Parts: sequence; C-alpha cells; structure tokens
Amino acid sequence: MSGSTPPATTGRILSGIQPTGNLHLGNYLGAIRNWVALQKDFECLFCIVDLHAITVWQDPADLTRSTREVAAGMIAAGIDPAANALFVQSHVPAHSQLAWVFNCVARLGWLNRMTQFKDKAGKNREAASAGLYVYPNLMAADILVYKATHVPVGEDQKQHLELARDIAQKFNNDYGVELFPLPEPVIRGPGTRVMSLRDGSKKMSKSDPSEFSRLNMTDDADAIAGKVRKATTDPNPLPDSVAGLEGRVEAANLLNIYAALTDQTLEQAVAEQAGQQFSQFKAKLTETAVAVLGPINAEMKRLMGDPAEIDQVLKRGADKANAIARPVLQEVYKTIGFLPSA
Ligand code: TYM
Repeated sequence: MSGSTPPATTGRILSGIQPTGNLHLGNYLGAIRNWVALQKDFECLFCIVDLHAITVWQDPADLTRSTREVAAGMIAAGIDPAANALFVQSHVPAHSQLAWVFNCVARLGWLNRMTQFKDKAGKNREAASAGLYVYPNLMAADILVYKATHVPVGEDQKQHLELARDIAQKFNNDYGVELFPLPEPVIRGPGTRVMSLRDGSKKMSKSDPSEFSRLNMTDDADAIAGKVRKATTDPNPLPDSVAGLEGRVEAANLLNIYAALTDQTLEQAVAEQAGQQFSQFKAKLTETAVAVLGPINAEMKRLMGDPAEIDQVLKRGADKANAIARPVLQEVYKTIGFLPSA
C-alpha cells in the first residue's frame, strides 16, 4: 500500500464516517477536508456509517440527530451532494449483504490482529458485541461493493484498509476471478493523526470523556478559545526545527494542527512559529481555528434548521449508491454460485 495521492481522474473513491457524537477536528483534517479536495477529480461516494455506529450502544434519538448532523457537516465543509453520492449506509442494503459474504471470507486470525477492536473492547472482551468484532468486514464491504479503488482516511484506519485488501485478494483467489480491485488508502497531509488537546500521546476521538480533548466542528469561537487555552503544553518556547519537536508530543500536535489549518507543511509551520511562547502561539492557533471552523459551524446550523432537506439529499445519494452497489452484489452472488432469485 502506498498511502499516496492517487493519479488524477482514475478510479473511484469511497469513504465513511460514523454518526456517533460530534464531528471533531480530527475528522475534518484527517478525512473530510481531503474528501472536499478529491471530489474535483474523482467519482466519490461518501457514506454515513450508521450500521458501524451500533457496534457500540447508541441512544436512538441521538443516532438520528447525529446522522443528519454529519450530513450537514460534510455539506457545510464543502462536499457537493449533487456531484457525489452522500448517503446513509443502512439505506443501501448491499453493504450488509456483502458484509455477510465477507464474514465467510475473512479469517478469525485476521480479525484477532485488529488493534481497534482491542482498544474499543477494552479489558472486557467477552462483553463486546459480535458486530464490533466483524466491524472491519463491513468496512471492507462498504468499499468493495462499489469496487472503489481509493479510500481517503486518517492514519487510524490503515489497518482496516489492509484487511479490506486481504479480503478482496482472498475472494478473487478463492473464486479465480478479478472481481475486486485492491483499494489504496489515501492518507496525506499533517492532519492524518490529530491528537487529544489534553494528552498529545492519545488520538483525538469522539469517545474521549473530556470535551476539552477535542475541537468540535460545532464549537463556537468562545468554545474554541477556551479549549485551546486549556490545551496541555510544556514550559519551553517553540523549537526552530522539526527535530526540536522530538519528545514534545503536545507541541508537535498543536503545530501539526496549525500546519493543517493553514495549508502548510509541518516544516513551514515550525519555521513560522520558531521561538514563540505558547501563549502567543495559542492566540494565533485560536484565530486560525475560528477562521476555518466558524463558517462551517454557521452553515451546519443553517442546514440543521431544515432536516427534511437533509433527508432529501440523503435519499438522492442512496439512489445513486444503490444503482452502483446492487449489480456488484449480483455479480458476487453469481460468482459464489447462489441460485438467481428470480
Ligand atoms: P471514524 O468515524 O472514526 O472517523 C472518520 C474519519 O476521520 C478520521 N479520523 C481522524 N483523522 C485524524 N486524526 C484523528 N484524531 C481522527 N479521528 C478520526 C478517520 O481516520 C476517518 O477517516 N471505520 C471508520 C468509518 C468507515 C469507513 C468505511 C472509512 C466505515 N466504513 C469505509 C472508510 C471506508 C471510522 O470509524 O471512522
């Protein structure tokens, strides 16, 4: 897997996001912002993965609200739902149907190696849902039911992508076909691994109990300022080279965030902020984060005022997605030897 940027105008992109809790800066910088850039050159499908969300308990009313909110966030960030398919996973039954086939292709040994399952299941593995365990098989189905060739994600999804490739390869080998392409991850830029604002060694995540660990796409200017002010730092001024970030995880994280928000490389951001005290740098970071997230936040609120319109957009997206996914599923069923249904 190269993890590089695909050559323009070849292939099809699929990516997904869970409607669990608030969208945060990691989702934006690691995924959504790249999707916005890639949509110019590629046929894209963007999926709100509600089936994945219920692998851990979700309050039904929150799940409904979050699903619309994620759609609003993606549109507000610049995804064009007319040019792409923006849809909800449970509206396209072929995802679940192909996932079952993949449950029979993937090996237990492969799933046992998935670090995200170990992290999410925690110490009490026996109490985790079976869905959480086979989660990566459904993710492979999300991608391969469209024969997607490229998958733009944050760094944390890399292992799942490797599994999707293994599944595609094994299916092709077992049945002697070239049905599935081996999807390439697209992991790029300084925002591919945004860390917690409280602990620079932990990923920024929706499930962190501390609200101060993340900037949400719904945060207003005051909330952003408060969270950046409270972000963990160290006593030294910012270094003048990337090498000087060695062992300074919090400084590295804030500079990475700043680099991603200002469309610079980490090297450029470090050179720009060299020698600054954290207090000065945090003021600059706040101003930048508010400038980027503020307009998205305002547009999200506006869109959330018309849930029926969001539902319409998602329905049109599901129609497009179903039109691609259904024939691929039929091709898979035929290859396996299932008797045609009618
Ligand atoms: P999810 O919902 O956790 O995250 C959505 C996207 O945001 C990225 N991301 C991050 N990037 C940088 N820093 C962070 N701290 C950070 N946190 C999250 C994720 O890498 C992801 O790209 N399993 C997936 C959803 C999924 C999917 C798919 C993705 C289901 N099917 C098919 C791609 C293709 C997940 O839980 O993402």
